[in-house]
Amino acid sequence: MPSNPGDTTMAKLSLMEQAGKVRDNAYAPYSNFQVGCALRSVEGRVHLGVNVENVAYPEGTCAEAGAIAAMIAAGDSAIAEIAVIADSPTPVPPCGGCRQKLAEFAAGDVVVTMGTVGGATLAMRVDELLPGRFDADHMANAT
Ligand code: THU
Repeated sequence: MPSNPGDTTMAKLSLMEQAGKVRDNAYAPYSNFQVGCALRSVEGRVHLGVNVENVAYPEGTCAEAGAIAAMIAAGDSAIAEIAVIADSPTPVPPCGGCRQKLAEFAAGDVVVTMGTVGGATLAMRVDELLPGRFDADHMANAT
């Protein structure tokens, strides 16, 4: 049974627990590495994402990107906290591209909690994950 954010049983779960549940819906037949993501927006709603792979490998999308897309589609504006989980020996970190995507919608002090299905967690701030990020200030000379 697919999990979804409208499921009232999901609301009682922690963000990491929700990420773990939605992970079951990930479409990862090529890597066999399922990833789940749950974020709470500054508006207070939870949005979920999973990785969705493609036979044309570069067309696959990460769980974090899916959760961000769901947040924006729902009309929310920014990330207050976020959890990512996979069956990994150590807590799974967002890939480089996802770090930039997170930085677009999360302040530097937003906490990203990385988890494993075994229960290990690691919490890092967005500005720790992507120091020196490219931002709009770098385009100040563009006309
Ligand atoms: N993946 C994510 O969804 N999020 C991450 O933070 C790391 C990697 C996915 C992409 C691909 O579908 C699979 O994990 C293996 O790289």
